[in-house]
Amino acid sequence: MRRQIIAGNWKMHGSRVENAALVDAIVHKLPNSSAEVWVCPPFVYLAEVGRALAGSRISLAAQDVCAETQGAFTGEVSAAMLRDVGCAGSLVAHSERRALYGETDQLAARKFAALLAAGLTPILCLGEKLAERESGRTFEVVDRQLDAVLDLSGVAAFSRAIIAYEPVWAIGTGKTASAQQAEEVHAHIRGRIASRDAKIAALVRILYGGSLKAANAAELLSMSNVDGGLIGGASLKAEEFLAIIAAARA
Ligand code: 13P
Repeated sequence: MRRQIIAGNWKMHGSRVENAALVDAIVHKLPNSSAEVWVCPPFVYLAEVGRALAGSRISLAAQDVCAETQGAFTGEVSAAMLRDVGCAGSLVAHSERRALYGETDQLAARKFAALLAAGLTPILCLGEKLAERESGRTFEVVDRQLDAVLDLSGVAAFSRAIIAYEPVWAIGTGKTASAQQAEEVHAHIRGRIASRDAKIAALVRILYGGSLKAANAAELLSMSNVDGGLIGGASLKAEEFLAIIAAARA
């Protein structure tokens, strides 16, 4: 069975003092769950949070990465730099990056490849907007987002990557996809990968994200194709995040 992953995306929240308290609470009260745990702090806090996580079984990931390796790219951070400060991976093309900063499927694919080249784990975010779901285009959208990466890096790359399905209409809205809605899209994504390589499809972890919280975690995480969660708001509250970890499938 695939080991579940509970990952916290802190987005643009926190401070040195708040992060220290949050990490301390998570590290010291981590439930005896077999789930893999990740946190994704803002760039400027990565090194410090990484030091606070040292010796724990929690992995560190960034929220974004530059597609280029080095050079005159003011404001950007490379995959090698992320590895240098202790990251094991990074989110790629979160829906907020796609919607607010114009990230295209092609840029997402290049960022994914840059992480792999640096030996880091990409956490590729996919998902449809409300209008796309309502017009019956959910599968078409996630296929397009996924295929851009498959076409550039090949299906074998997914043996070293994680996927996060995050329906845009469920992010930060309090509206969660039903367990059946999530399962349907997760199964579809796995099927699309299986059409290129069934073995890799069976192993790749597909996380659900979008208003996941302690109250709905057990139901969503019980679905057979839901291999964990990518959590925004609820990952900033230690008790909520710990309860979600405790709800992960053993
Ligand atoms: P919320 O859990 O706050 O809805 O955010 C989900 C998300 O975007 C995680 O990456």
